[in-house]
Amino acid sequence: MAKAQTYQCAQCAATSPKWVGQCPGCGEWNTLEEAGDGAKFTQLKGNVVGKSLTLEGLSGHAKDAPRIPTQIGELDRVLGGGLVPGSAILVGGDPGIGKSTLLLQMQATLANNGKKMVYITGEESVAQVRLRASRLGLSNAPVLLAAATNVRDILATMQKEKPAALVVDSIQTMFVDSVASAPGTVTQVRNSAFELIAAAKQSETALILVGHVTKDGQIAGPKVLEHMVDTVLYAEGDAGQHYRLLRAVKNRFGAANEIGVFDMTEQGLQEVTNPSALFISGKAGEVSGSVIFPASEGSRVMLLEIQALVAPTQYSNPKRAVVGWDANRLSMLLAVLQTRANLPLMDKEVFLNVTGGIKITEPAADLAVAAAIVSALKNEPVKEDTVVFGEVGLSGEVRPVSGTESRLKEAAKLGFTRALTPPGKAPSVKGLSVEMVKYAGDLVRS
Ligand code: TYD
Ligand code: MG
Repeated sequence: MAKAQTYQCAQCAATSPKWVGQCPGCGEWNTLEEAGDGAKFTQLKGNVVGKSLTLEGLSGHAKDAPRIPTQIGELDRVLGGGLVPGSAILVGGDPGIGKSTLLLQMQATLANNGKKMVYITGEESVAQVRLRASRLGLSNAPVLLAAATNVRDILATMQKEKPAALVVDSIQTMFVDSVASAPGTVTQVRNSAFELIAAAKQSETALILVGHVTKDGQIAGPKVLEHMVDTVLYAEGDAGQHYRLLRAVKNRFGAANEIGVFDMTEQGLQEVTNPSALFISGKAGEVSGSVIFPASEGSRVMLLEIQALVAPTQYSNPKRAVVGWDANRLSMLLAVLQTRANLPLMDKEVFLNVTGGIKITEPAADLAVAAAIVSALKNEPVKEDTVVFGEVGLSGEVRPVSGTESRLKEAAKLGFTRALTPPGKAPSVKGLSVEMVKYAGDLVRS
């Protein structure tokens, strides 16, 4: 029987039964490669029968994963208590956000405490990493450095040295020499990560892979690795500002969505242990279109400022631009306000910005965004010292969200006196008057 040939795109991993010049998946040219047997599902052949597995019940002895605390409190918070030996962590983020800096600081601290730390740089030379270490005042920390990109060499090193933690900076520069594609392609990134993760399990090393978020499709982004690793951390922040957020989007050993806050200084990243009021300008209550939203991020509440600008347009297709929030959610909210509350928004340009370079993913921000838009449209500031939160549904109704009590408490602690919240039971918090909003359209009157 002739063997069916399969071709796989090195960019997007789409498969095609025959070779074509342009990938049917992502439209890139000349990216299809002959795929090995692993790429498609095959019935197991041969006469060897697998042995039946021993099945066990749910109850039984389970011990907590052992941890190596990094002693950087904010990093431990997002990791769920520290590094887990044998686990794989992906640290993603835009180039220049501070990934290398943070990991070098972490390794230096641990190395100073007698843990064996290996830092593999595929992007920079050893001299460049040394330069960064000296800028950070960490030159004396016994971190072991090597510049390498061949995964085979790193595996051998890991086996021999058995470090407590190994950083690979970045996974997009690594290659497995048995795979023909160029470093940075989906095939190479996946294969390299797969080999490194397997080796880390064996040598009980906490493996940290750095992955740059990429704008174009030329280089595979960290997304293609998320399912392979135990923990995924993303670094966020505005290039023009010095605050950096580290967010756990997946964590097999801790709570997902936990965030850590850092300040990028001359001496590298410094922890910010009480960030709740960091990102607000103090202009809300004075200018129109500015609203304070108490965001519930993991185990803490942070006050964020949402700014909206509504302007008339000459075009039939008014412009909408969003920084830090979901553009589709904004379109939905504008449609709801237009249809359910008769607000003339469809012929207006709308701009929305979350200050501080932070990305909000919670639906609880809906009502705050709506309040910012209504305030901008009316050109009237929201009453001073007010926080707003709640989810908005398609009929304009405001829905309850989680974390009401902690949001209200944090707002009261920071001197806010009024909260616009979803209807329902609200805990009474001293110093805070709660006004429940039933429909998003009711904001016009509040
Ligand atoms: P880096 O860690 O190299 O980013 P990444 O690895 O995510 O690409 O950080 C680079 C930026 O950080 C660079 O713009 C300079 C700045 N920086 C500081 O502000 N202070 C410092 O102490 C260091 C080492 C870097
Ligand atoms: Mg770097």
